[in-house]
Amino acid sequence: MEQTEVVKPETLDDLIKILHSIFESDCINVEEVQNLMESYESNPQEWMKYAKFDQYRYTRNLVDKGNGKFNLMVLCWGEGHGSSIHDHTESHCFMKLLQGQLKETLFEWPESKSHGDMVQKSQRILQENKVAYINDSIGLHRVENVSHTECAVSLHLYSPPFETLGTLLTPFPASPCLTQQKYLLSRKWEELILSCFFH
Ligand SMILES: [Fe+2]
Repeated sequence: MEQTEVVKPETLDDLIKILHSIFESDCINVEEVQNLMESYESNPQEWMKYAKFDQYRYTRNLVDKGNGKFNLMVLCWGEGHGSSIHDHTESHCFMKLLQGQLKETLFEWPESKSHGDMVQKSQRILQENKVAYINDSIGLHRVENVSHTECAVSLHLYSPPFETLGTLLTPFPASPCLTQQKYLLSRKWEELILSCFFH
C-alpha cells in the first residue's frame, strides 16, 4: 500500500483542520489517521476548555462534529474511572492519550448463545500521545484509568460519528430469555437506556 506523508499538526485546531480534509474522502486510511493523531503533541492549553471532570464517572465532551463524517471528543477520566466493555457499532475508533495513562483490555466477541465470561485477548497501558485504534472486527474493549492518584484525558475520533449510532455492550448476562443485552446511550451519553433483544 502506498504510504501517505503525514503533515505534523502544530496545534489542536491544525489537527482538526487536517482531519476534515482527510475525512472528505469516504475511503479512510487507518494508519494515516493514527499517525496524524499521534504526531500532534498534546498541549493542555489547547484542549483544557473541553476537559470537564465528574466525580463519579468519566465524561465525554464534544470537540468537533467533523462535518458529519466523524466526531472528535475529549474524554476525562478521574482516578479509578473506567468504561464498560463495549463495541463501536461499525465505527472506526481512534483514541489518543492527551494526559496520563489508560489501560485498554481487548476482548473476543462472545458467541451469540454464550453465557460465559468474556474472553480477554490482550491488555496494554497507553502512554501520553500514543494512539490506539479499534473497530468491531478487532473485538470489544474496556478502557480504564487504573491510577488512584492521577486523572487521564484522551481524545477520541469516531467515524461514522458515534452520535448517530452509539451503543455500548456490557458482558452478556446469564439470562435464558436473552441472546444479548445492549445499553443504548443517549445522544449526549449522559444516561444509559436499557434495551433488550429477545430470541
Ligand atoms: Fe471504545
